Amino acid sequence: MRGQHVKSFFSFMITLLGLGTLITTLIWYKLDSNHEEPHRPPPQKKHAPTLSEICKACKEIIDKVHQRYNQTWKKNEKNYLRFRDNLRVKCNGFDNAIITQNNTPLGSNIVYSGEKKRTLQVKLDFFDLFSKENPFSNKKWDTCSVVGNGGILSESSCGKMIDSADLVIRCNLPPLENGYEKDVGIKTSLVTANPTIFFNKYGALAGRRLPFVESLRKYGNSLLLLPAFSFGMNTAVCQRAAYTIQDFKSPIQPVFFNPQYLDSLAQFWRSEGLKEARLSTGLIMVSMALELCENVHLYGFWPFSNHPYGLYTLTNHYYDDVPPKTVFHSMPAEFDHLLQLHTEGVLRLHLGDCKSDEK
Ligand SMILES: *[C@@H]1O[C@H](CO)[C@@H](O)[C@H](O)[C@H]1NC(C)=O
Repeated sequence: MRGQHVKSFFSFMITLLGLGTLITTLIWYKLDSNHEEPHRPPPQKKHAPTLSEICKACKEIIDKVHQRYNQTWKKNEKNYLRFRDNLRVKCNGFDNAIITQNNTPLGSNIVYSGEKKRTLQVKLDFFDLFSKENPFSNKKWDTCSVVGNGGILSESSCGKMIDSADLVIRCNLPPLENGYEKDVGIKTSLVTANPTIFFNKYGALAGRRLPFVESLRKYGNSLLLLPAFSFGMNTAVCQRAAYTIQDFKSPIQPVFFNPQYLDSLAQFWRSEGLKEARLSTGLIMVSMALELCENVHLYGFWPFSNHPYGLYTLTNHYYDDVPPKTVFHSMPAEFDHLLQLHTEGVLRLHLGDCKSDEK
């Protein structure tokens, strides 16, 4: 009798452990957490893991993904056009994703996307920083790479393939040099910045600003997308970032997220069944890319803690293992939608290493 109690106690504890790991996996998000100085994460092991190393629940999740993930992917033009046109009608990121002097005139009121009660009347100081024309007009791109920052990119050798796209979109000022090029590439057309980086790494841009300017050099003359109107606390620091870039004559071009677009996009994804409060930067960039490019390829989007093929443990980002401080997004829920779009042939999600992909 007692033996049985002990046994069921143990199986209960094991179940608890399994659940704990599963929950940790489920709440991890990859893109919006701030990061410190990019230290290269310890090399990840590629040996075949022993059973005890693999979390059983993770394995089940990964198996489910494999059942849905098409290895031999083919674009479905009809599905792509349907999805893209739906986005164009409901969100029109092409004209609205970025604030321009045209879509946000002098004297108009900007409503913050993260604080609905906060507004800002556009005065000359900001108006002068707004893009004079739509940076996307008169351009057409065949292929886009959207690069998430997931640890899945480590040792992926995807750099060349990422850089071969006409338009390369990156998230949250990621490191690209010092050995990362091979896996993530170096070309950048558009990069987003999370203001947390300005606060944590560059002293809120209140003191010396040269280190910040130098850190932008690797992104060349790309667009730097700033969320100045998400929360009130981000406005001044994003304005300082834009001033810094202009004053130091850095070739990167600061532009601002249009909160109206972010609202319409949140509504769009809610209507697609995504229940999350806030969209991740990665999903926003994927949505933009679907309007801008005929062929959208995703890299570094993988919200689980184990590699989909090797099953070895992954770091949180390809450049560090810093876990998120707060949990805003549910990456697995977003990933589920991206996987769905992949199976429908709307976009292509890259989960394997690129060497074997190219065969
Ligand atoms: C993926 O596989 C499913 C089921 O076999 C199929 O219906 C779908 O068309 C495939 N998608 C692509 C993009 O190849």
